[in-house]
Amino acid sequence: MNRKYIVTAALPYSNGRLHVGHIAGAYLPADIFVRYLRSNGDDVRFICGSDDNGVAIEISSRKENTTPAELSARYNARQAADFAGLGIRFDIYGGTHQPAFVETHNRISQDFFKTIHANGHFVKRTTEQLYDGQAQQFLPDRFVTGRCYHKLPDGTPCNNPSALGDQCEQCGNSIDALKLIDPVSVITGTRPETRTTTHWYLQLDKFQGMLADWFSLTSLDWRPIVTNFSLGSIKTGLPERAMTRDLTWGVPVPLDDPDAAGKVLYVWFDAPIGYVSFTAELCRQRDGDAEKYRDWWQNPDCKIVHFIGEDNIVFHALIWPAMLMGTQFTTEEVQKRGSAYTGPKGAGYYQLPYNVVANAFLNIKFPGKEEEKISKSRGTAVWIEDYLREFDPDPLRYYLTINAPESQRTSWSFDDFVERNNSELIATLGNFVNRWQKIVTDDFARKVPASTNPESLETDLLARIAKIPADVATDIESARFKSALGRIMEAFRECNRYIDTRAPWTSRKTDMARTATTIHTCIQAVRTLGVLLDPFLPFAAEKIRASLGVSQDEWKWSRATQPLPEGHALGPIPEVLFKKLDPKDFALTGASPK
Ligand code: 2FM
Ligand code: ZN
Repeated sequence: MNRKYIVTAALPYSNGRLHVGHIAGAYLPADIFVRYLRSNGDDVRFICGSDDNGVAIEISSRKENTTPAELSARYNARQAADFAGLGIRFDIYGGTHQPAFVETHNRISQDFFKTIHANGHFVKRTTEQLYDGQAQQFLPDRFVTGRCYHKLPDGTPCNNPSALGDQCEQCGNSIDALKLIDPVSVITGTRPETRTTTHWYLQLDKFQGMLADWFSLTSLDWRPIVTNFSLGSIKTGLPERAMTRDLTWGVPVPLDDPDAAGKVLYVWFDAPIGYVSFTAELCRQRDGDAEKYRDWWQNPDCKIVHFIGEDNIVFHALIWPAMLMGTQFTTEEVQKRGSAYTGPKGAGYYQLPYNVVANAFLNIKFPGKEEEKISKSRGTAVWIEDYLREFDPDPLRYYLTINAPESQRTSWSFDDFVERNNSELIATLGNFVNRWQKIVTDDFARKVPASTNPESLETDLLARIAKIPADVATDIESARFKSALGRIMEAFRECNRYIDTRAPWTSRKTDMARTATTIHTCIQAVRTLGVLLDPFLPFAAEKIRASLGVSQDEWKWSRATQPLPEGHALGPIPEVLFKKLDPKDFALTGASPK
């Protein structure tokens, strides 16, 4: 079938390590989706990299006494190693300010800005902003903190003393830095003054009608967490947003205007363009021509799917689509269309996302403590680097999928993680794969024995398993990963009940034909389920594949139900698929060194 897909996972800021919350939010579901597409024979490019620009990176580099370039290079490499260790396999891992990417990234970001500007969607405004006289610079976004001025739903003041210049993390509201009570510069700790400065604001309100119409055309089977938030925001009204900043670290504003001098694009303007610019670099590496990125991003037949965490919904489901529409249409065209969005312009124009898949946040529950938010500053996290030093990737992939925050928050509980590893991965899945290995080795010389006398127990089991690939595929294509993995695990439970009933360890003493039929059936079941496991538990699936003596070519979704013929030589007995864990071994408290 060979459908074309671009799949992206949110670009992590390159100023810190990754924890389980990041992985559960965007990267693991994206990897499962991509592994499935690859197995299905679809033409997919899986794009990620670090978000290197913006205030967060500047602040962290000041704290670590280094430069943004050094800091972002260091964390880019560490994060890439974490992803690789978890089996999250991008086609390219770029970085918006990494030396190999920055030139193409700046060029494409500037082209976006110039096209949207030429189409008339920016308004240039001069307003007051906070300025640090000592550091001699403006204080955009998180460069300023102060007391929150918002009221909580019960009418009492929020009063968070350390609200950030763009958002209060206590009440969740966005912040107008000028309204902060007792503002303080993060750079010098002094009280800022106000000065006027000029910026370019994207007129998001003009796109409201088209965005609402686009949602009604496109988002029917999107997750409610995305559509409810987005449609709610459109109803309330989308305020204009400044898309430039008074900073030096970032993509220079590409306008021939003295007011643009020394300014850069807002990090949320250039970050999603990173998906495009990294694709260009991938095309340069693979096809020898960076311009080939247009065959993906400007091709109506290519489906673009973004995986993100819930805090990124506004940027991917509203602002980014408005930017893409802004490259396609002039203000007059937008006005003429009003709310009549009949689809994007065709080939040669940037296409809108096919789906935006968001997960809610993951909380954490330490033994004997209440469930709480994952917090870098409080050290309440499980860091991937620490996890991988002691444990295998598949149990984490399993737990974060079967317990995924697909529609609401879930929590990482150490006890539950250990319990599910032991009772589900080991006692259900691993156990079934192992239970017949000794018999097929001792009695059948590791060759698929003949099924000479199948009864309804066998035919019913294999008929039910034969239906699972289609059901799992439907789930995955609709981003229901938890349900998909649940179906596979349910099938393993059924297989265990089957082998309990047939008890080949007993029948082998008296009835070799019956035993052969049982083992034959077990092998076919594992042959099918093993292929389906690959997107979820790639390391275990690979061991199963090798133990069945099946080639990579035959280990594809479309061949999952193709039986292994009688006499087919199996590979060696599989290595241990999953190790038993004890809650006492699990000391990942999050307090490990940076
Ligand atoms: O929230 C974040 O971590 C952002 N760095 C995500 C950016 S996603 C994209 F648009 F690049
Ligand atoms: Zn607040």
